[in-house]
Amino acid sequence: MADSHRQIPLAGYARLDEAAMATRAAEFADQLERRRTIRDFAPDPIPDAVLQDCLRAANSAPSGANMRPWHFAVVRNTDVRHRIRLAAEEEEREFYAERAPQAWLDALSPIGTDADKPFLDIAPVLIAMFYQPYQFDDGGNKVKTYYARESAGIAAGMLLTALHHVGLGTLTHTPAPMAFLADILDRPDTDRPYLLIVTGYPADDAMVPDIDRAPLSARSSIR
Ligand SMILES: Cc1cc2nc3c(=O)[nH]c(=O)nc-3n(C[C@H](O)[C@H](O)[C@H](O)COP(=O)(O)O)c2cc1C
Repeated sequence: MADSHRQIPLAGYARLDEAAMATRAAEFADQLERRRTIRDFAPDPIPDAVLQDCLRAANSAPSGANMRPWHFAVVRNTDVRHRIRLAAEEEEREFYAERAPQAWLDALSPIGTDADKPFLDIAPVLIAMFYQPYQFDDGGNKVKTYYARESAGIAAGMLLTALHHVGLGTLTHTPAPMAFLADILDRPDTDRPYLLIVTGYPADDAMVPDIDRAPLSARSSIR
């Protein structure tokens, strides 16, 4: 087989017995069902090694043609977080006052969000996630990526899961439009703003909206 198609044995895989699978599946589902989007964060710093490992988990995501078309810009710096807050609030003020159609505002009303985003100053870490519709290869040639948004979405889900798994709260934030993120964080044109993931410990008195989730029966089918 040609070198470019070189195959290697699957490493690090051990098949579980069905009892172990059932236990793991149920425990993991229970754990993930406890995840809530947090908007009240404690200012306490989070361990850098933990954050790095959560990013490492996300970076292991599958991706179209193995291009890993994403970038995680981690922001701890207080001033940069504040600049992001000011820019996000400016967009959100316009969104809530002018741009959002009434149906969208109605859908948001049970969640209780508004244009104020104090958590962008308070939470210790913001992770601006970018997807890359193209990249440059080692020779400096522009190359198209494949399924960039889908790939970034899977990586984002794995990041949220990893952060929740270690007991950190997360908010998936999408101030629209998010072009300011690329400017403030000085990202190249390859990087398109995708999500702003806010993370840290939930505040002791954190509140969450009292909303229901559509049950699995309404979101899945088997035949
Ligand atoms: C793609 C996406 C964008 C979101 N954008 C925002 C946002 O801009 N602001 C916000 O407060 N919550 C945002 N959320 C969080 C949702 O409101 C939240 O996931 C939903 O209400 C369900 O609550 P839960 O995450 O606690 O289950 C977003 C979630 C997703 C997946």
